[in-house]
Amino acid sequence: MLFRVLLAIRNAGLRQQISKSLPDALFETVSTSKLFWEHFAHVNVDCIVIDRALLPSPEIQSITHLLQLPDIPAVIVLSDKEDPEGRAHLLAAGCEAMLNSKLPPQTLCETLAMILDRIRMKKVENFTQRRATAQSRLSDFVSNSPAMQAFMHVVYRVAGSDAPLLIQGETGVGKERLARAIHVESPRSNRPFIAVNCGALPESLLESELFGHKEGAFTGATRSRRGCFELAHRGTIFLDEITEMPVHLQVKLLRVLQEYEIQPVGAEKSIKIDVRLMASTNRNLDEEIKHGRFRKDLYYRLSVVSLTVPPLRERREDIPALVHSHIAFLRPRIGGGRAIDPEAMAALIRYSWPGNVRELINVIERAMLLCNTEMITLADLPESISGTMSPTPRPSHSMLDVLAPMTEDSEFLRKHPWRTVRRTFLDRLEREYLRQLLESTNGHIGRTAKLADMRSRSLFDKMKKHGLRKEDFKG
Ligand SMILES: Nc1ncnc2c1ncn2[C@@H]1O[C@H](COP(=O)(O)OP(=O)(O)OP(=O)(O)O)[C@@H](O)[C@H]1O
Ligand SMILES: [Mg+2]
Repeated sequence: MLFRVLLAIRNAGLRQQISKSLPDALFETVSTSKLFWEHFAHVNVDCIVIDRALLPSPEIQSITHLLQLPDIPAVIVLSDKEDPEGRAHLLAAGCEAMLNSKLPPQTLCETLAMILDRIRMKKVENFTQRRATAQSRLSDFVSNSPAMQAFMHVVYRVAGSDAPLLIQGETGVGKERLARAIHVESPRSNRPFIAVNCGALPESLLESELFGHKEGAFTGATRSRRGCFELAHRGTIFLDEITEMPVHLQVKLLRVLQEYEIQPVGAEKSIKIDVRLMASTNRNLDEEIKHGRFRKDLYYRLSVVSLTVPPLRERREDIPALVHSHIAFLRPRIGGGRAIDPEAMAALIRYSWPGNVRELINVIERAMLLCNTEMITLADLPESISGTMSPTPRPSHSMLDVLAPMTEDSEFLRKHPWRTVRRTFLDRLEREYLRQLLESTNGHIGRTAKLADMRSRSLFDKMKKHGLRKEDFKG
């Protein structure tokens, strides 16, 4: 994360010395109380260092105002008088520290640098914890299949480097999980991993999401905002569904990859950043380039190292281990079956898994919820997998049809607590509802989101959760 500091200090020499003592931060400066109050509501900073004289009285109230800013900046007050009582009040109000500005400049700067560094580490830590989901590790991809072993051999060789990575592969093969795992095992692991889904945001928002914007850059931009590149500073940025990025942003991205500089929307100056870029797509890039939807020069720059995760049907040897590890993972959360009989396992190994690992996980979860005993059997698998019916089941006409397997099974209802039954019902209904809406819009995300009155991003997340792909509804 690029650390931003606002210096509201009257002494220009001191401002300069402080900025120099912390090279890896971005400083903004103001020198009067009026300018400070005009400025602070529009900026976006992690820390404010302010002369006590610039804090309007009552100063406790001023501190409270500052701490109400959306980014909750840390506040450090510089005072030229020793005032133990005043210091106690300020610290009690939430101020991070109060330093005597008459200290020799070098001591003052060194102390400030140490405090700022501590604040930065804390912010990064909070941020990483907030963003990271369950830790992915490269060991998750350990495999018995030759295709995957060859693949992982390359992965281990590039994991520690800083080279951009392009991760390709069908939907649900684990591209994002792999990107997280590579980050976790790279020298950048204690810095942020920021994932952006380029397909989930409208074109107008994507630019500001990636590069940030200055206040006033467009209607509604009342405060400046940091982009994901800035948040990922010293860490990794993962651009999911990169082919969904509009061509004019691809040009901007290429520039980032060449110069490692970003320019927030509406800003005059560029900012230097240090990020490792990983991108992924489940589309055929040659096709995208041929149709002018993806720039060749960006492709060359991104594909210094290109990895293609093999689909599950090409590594069926891995299915038993994935099944067992998911049963063990889900069991404490949802209860249900804890083992799987050989016939059911054979059916899982036989199936072609167009939705890859994601589909496999969904099928296991469903089977665990449906099974009446400790053992998952063929009867708990969808008919297209168990082979008991034609592979394309008749589409259901009433939304409630999807609940039939559970409502007609009194065992299921008796065996599970309401919260599990409710979640299962709602999940089923949600999937069916979205499936029908997507069918009616031919898979158009914007229109479907509008009909459902939800944001495109949450629609995307839900589709992913339910293994629904917009491509399947085209035409
Ligand atoms: N090797 C693995 N071990 C355990 N879980 C895995 C593995 N690979 C993938 N998964 C799980 O499968 C699901 C799909 O993975 P992920 O989101 O990384 O796929 P993807 O390739 O990015 O899919 P898409 O192209 O649709 O975005 C996730 O829940 C992920 O945790
Ligand atoms: Mg993905």
